[in-house]
Order: sequence, then C-alpha cells, then structure tokens
Amino acid sequence: MTITEERKWWKEGVVYQIYPASFKDSNDDGIGDIPGIISELDYIRSIGVDIVWICPMYDSPQVDMGYDISDYEAVYPPYGTVSDMESLIHECHKRDMHIILDLVVNHTSDQHKWFKESRMSKESPKRDWYIWRPAKYVNGVRKPPNNWRSNFEGSAWQWDEATQEYYLHLFCPEQPDLNWENEEVRKAIYDSAMEFWLRKGIDGFRVDTVNMYSKGLIMPDAPVTDPDAEWQFAGYQYCNGPRMQEFLSEMNAVLAKYDAMTVGECPNTHTAEGVLKYVSAKQKQLNMVFQFDVVDVGMGPHKFQTTPFAWKLPTLKAAIAGTQTLIKGTDAWTTAFLENHDQARSISRFASDAPEHRVASGKMLALMLATLSGTLFVYQGQELGMINAPLEWSMDEYKDVDSSNYYKMVNDRSGGDPKSLASAKAALQHLARDHARTPMQWNSHKYAGFSSCKPWMRVNDDYTVCNAQQQQQDKGSVLSFWKKLLRLRKEYSDLFVYGDFELLDAANENLFSFTKEYRASKAFVVLNFTGQKQAGASPENSKLLMNTAEEPKAESLLPYEGRVYLMA
Ligand code: NOJ
Repeated sequence: MTITEERKWWKEGVVYQIYPASFKDSNDDGIGDIPGIISELDYIRSIGVDIVWICPMYDSPQVDMGYDISDYEAVYPPYGTVSDMESLIHECHKRDMHIILDLVVNHTSDQHKWFKESRMSKESPKRDWYIWRPAKYVNGVRKPPNNWRSNFEGSAWQWDEATQEYYLHLFCPEQPDLNWENEEVRKAIYDSAMEFWLRKGIDGFRVDTVNMYSKGLIMPDAPVTDPDAEWQFAGYQYCNGPRMQEFLSEMNAVLAKYDAMTVGECPNTHTAEGVLKYVSAKQKQLNMVFQFDVVDVGMGPHKFQTTPFAWKLPTLKAAIAGTQTLIKGTDAWTTAFLENHDQARSISRFASDAPEHRVASGKMLALMLATLSGTLFVYQGQELGMINAPLEWSMDEYKDVDSSNYYKMVNDRSGGDPKSLASAKAALQHLARDHARTPMQWNSHKYAGFSSCKPWMRVNDDYTVCNAQQQQQDKGSVLSFWKKLLRLRKEYSDLFVYGDFELLDAANENLFSFTKEYRASKAFVVLNFTGQKQAGASPENSKLLMNTAEEPKAESLLPYEGRVYLMA
C-alpha cells in the first residue's frame, strides 16, 4: 500500500462547511448561531457527512465576517458562548462526527489586544508582533514601503498617524498581518488560537491563507500588471515565502500532540511541485490543501474583471486534473471541492441555474465531486443546489467588503460610468462571495425558516422552490441524490476516495469524462456540461452505478446529465 492509499478518517470523511451567520438562527435576532447549528446536526448527519467545519465563530468586529479576530479564546456573542462551543464539540462527537475550526492566524483584527499594544508606540514590547515599516518618500511625498495591493483593494499598507509608520494588511486595514518572524508571536498563536481549542477536543483546523505567513524581510515591489493603478497584485510576492516550511513544521509539532487534521488554503500556487511542499506526508506540514486553480476558473486578472462564463470546459478539466494527479505515485493527499464561503454557487458558475436546469446541474456537479479522489468538501446549501442571488438585486444587498470595495473602485476609476458599473455588477452577480452567504433555505416559510425575523442578509428569492424540507420528502431532489451518492462513495471508497484519476478527451468542450482505477477495479464517469443532448453511448462491459437523470436515454446524455459506470 502506498502512503496515499493509507486509510485515515480525514481522507474518507466527507466535510460539511458551516457559515455560522447564515446557517440557523435559534434566538431570532436575524443572525445564525451555535445553538442553531446544534439543532441541525441530525440533518447534517443524515446527508452522510462525517466532519463538520465551522467558519470563524470567534469574537470579532466582523469587518470581514469573523476573519478579523479580536479574541481567539472567546466566541462572538451573537453566535453564543465558549460553553455553546463545548456543547457543539460534544454533540458532534456523540453523533460520530468530527469537528474542525477555522484557524485564522496570518492576521488578527486591529481590535485584538496584541495589535492595540503594538500600535501604542515604537517602543511597545509588542511592536514587533506586527509588520511595521517606515514610509518611503518619493519627491517629498509620503508613500507606503512597496506597491502591494491588498486582497480587498487599495494599498496593503496603512499609515498610523500616531506612531508615524505603516503596518501591513494583506486584507482589510482592520486586519493587520502578524509578524511570524517573531518567535514569541508564533508561541502565542499556538497557545491562544490552537491549543485553547485543541484542548477542548476539536479534531483539527481549516487553515486560513496558510501560505502567506512568511513574507520574507525585503518585500520587494510587485511587477506592474495593471498599469493604470498605483497598487499591484502581489500574490506571488507574499505567498510561499522563504520560511513557510519551517513555520509549518513548528506548527505541525503542536498539532501532532492532538493528532489533529489540517486543510490549508493555498492560493497563487500553480505547480504540483509547489503544492507538494505542503502536502507530501513526509514533509509533515499539512494533511491537504485547497488548490485555487478550480475556483479561479473564469476569474479575471483582478478577480471580478471578467464577464460571466468567460471560460471553456477544458480549463476546468485541467484544473481538476491538477488536484487529482497530485496524489498519483506521491505520498500526498488532496481535496475535492467547488464551493465555500468565498465562492459563488457552483451551479451558477459552472453549469446552469436556469429553472429547467438547476436540479440536473446540481446533481451532475455532485456526481463529479463524489467520484473524485481526496477529501470531499460540501458547503452548506450545496446539498440543496442553492444558486446565486438574481441580477435584479441591488448593490445594497451585497454585504461583503470584497464586493463593495470592488464596486467602489470601479466607480472611482470610471468616474461613475454606467457601462463600467453594469459590467462590475454583472461580474459580482456571477462571482461575488455574497452568493454563498445568503441564509440557508430550510423551508418555504417567511425567511426560509432560517429565522423568524429579518435576517442580516436577504434570503435568496427561490427559497419556496429550493429548501431542505421539500427536498427531504422528494426522492428526485438534489438532496436525496447527494445522500445516495455519499453512500455510493463510501461503498466504493477504494475507487472514489483513493483511486487513480485519468482524464479522457481533454479537449472536448461539452463532455467531461474520466476514469478512476484502483487495482483491478475501474469506474468511468461522463458528465454533460451543456444544456443540449450529447451523444454518449454506454461503454461495453459496464454496469451503470448511478446517473443523474430520472429518465435517461441509452444513446445520448440529457442536458447536464452525469453517469458513473463500473467497468467489468
Ligand atoms: C480567506 C477566507 O476564506 C476569507 O473569507 C477571508 O476574507 C480571507 N482569508 C482573510 O482571512
């Protein structure tokens, strides 16, 4: 058995990701909470899920929806208390599920006591806990130390009037970057952000922006890729820096004491060699990562600078193949995912959310995911085939700082040009993170059963036709299909979780076909990514294991139909 084939709970387990603000509100304040999550654990378990991942529930001013943490050891009061979290951990374990939390330690909130102390003066004992630099003067004009653009627009440096220096923030100004070069900082992170929760029994972490910890000391300018802008994309400057492997080995030693699992976010890393540094088992860094090639499909150079569906199927296939072949003949592990809280809904992005195609599309994408190797991740509502909010929604409904900053940037740069704003809006309707954050659709009552009062974010208009209650009773629903599919994945875990992936007919722009092979067994998967019928006869000597269509046709695949065959 190769190391990749070695059985582990975190390889075979299916992960269900929960966004606390939007999952279930138990106390009618319009914001989801931990008791709400506990009340739906049986529902989650019924899907066939084994691991629950909770997005940040720590205390936070919520500038970036909890990814700006002001206290790692406290819970954001509208979500509940530490004691609620202890109950959640217990209730997950009681149902034989593992639970992982989000570990956000590239940065803190500017309201964290560490940063408050750091910014007090240049002599503060915690000054060096964050990344402070003097200004650069160009023709007497004060400028930040380099031209890096933050992930949420504008310079990645914020001027601090009181102490006359800039601090680095790769995300919002309210999210200052911690200085991982400082050993004291690393120890404080392990203790406060990690061991505090590991001691309470959690089973691991999803590790936020994990490849950004080491920026190097020089931090040179990024190349100019957007000549009209002052600040430039710098992802290749601040990701995968020189001390990454050293920092992660150190962190891994802490995690190893608890046998905790890790899945790291790994943007701006496009080669297998680059990814393997993090996930090769012998390197002892992370168990697996989310590669970004798949979710970057169709995004413009500046993420939203694109038109909807500006991609072709071979690009998506190549991106997926990259995550699958990573584990072929190596000691690495991988992930299978299409959605999370940072992505628009997969049906709307990669298939069709037109009413006549939504269900078929949801099942077809589910079939693809559940037959891919690696740990499978499902994002709340994906199991129902939830889709993007409609184009008619005004910008006021978009709550994410990433969306509003982008729209504002286009407005400023175009002088309010209606055409530019319309295309910015079209791109946001297709790709914005907000679409993943609309409240979970539980039933067809007002506010979709998420809450009995007006939720913090508008419920998607389609909740009367797409909700958990209806789908639980409907054998033909996306939810029922996911349940069957996850049983199949478990039954054939050799093939689907651990098998070797081979892409077929890579250039085909309509059909995505691949095989999975494990020793003597082999499966063949074919997926129609179009709204038209496609020729596609059953392979010889095969048995149809599962298909998405209610009334399949032998000689052709229906629009958005997917099939998986077992080969003799
Ligand atoms: C990645 C998280 O998934 C995203 O939601 C967040 O905005 C950034 N990291 C910053 O923490």
